[in-house]
Amino acid sequence: MIRYLTRPAILFLGAITIGCSSSDNSDGVIPPDDPDNESVTYTANIRPIIQSNCTSCHGNPPTQNAPMSLTTLQQVRSAVQSRNLLGRINSTTNPMPPDGRLPVSARNAIQAWVDAGFPE
Ligand code: HEC
Repeated sequence: MIRYLTRPAILFLGAITIGCSSSDNSDGVIPPDDPDNESVTYTANIRPIIQSNCTSCHGNPPTQNAPMSLTTLQQVRSAVQSRNLLGRINSTTNPMPPDGRLPVSARNAIQAWVDAGFPE
């Protein structure tokens, strides 16, 4: 029985791996029915990403010429709505952070949080 199950499982994993690597240049949108999409919150998912990757410049106060802080939900939300945050984290020519784009999983989480309406 196991012999019949292993092979499709390996093919399936292979398909996921190929899917992930080839989607790296897409704009990072995940399907709305992805289960992870529903549970993303600022506190659990988004704040840790921003703290590790953005607040070294976008702290309170901002440093290194960053134009705004990203230390609260409201500040991040406002940067999404009026400072093109999603465009910048997905940009290949002018990304944020400036030294290279976040992993696609982190960009997807931010996109999912925006799509879900900025849940706390
Ligand atoms: C090394 C410092 C540094 C880091 C780290 C950094 N930024 Fe920035 N950020 C800047 C600077 C400087 C600017 C202004 C120049 C520009 O727009 O490129 C900026 C601009 C921006 C803007 C555009 C603001 C506007 O009004 O046009 C957004 C949005 C942004 N950053 C988001 C982020 C996010 C989100 C992260 C983390 C994922 C991040 N940044 C990480 C330095 C940084």
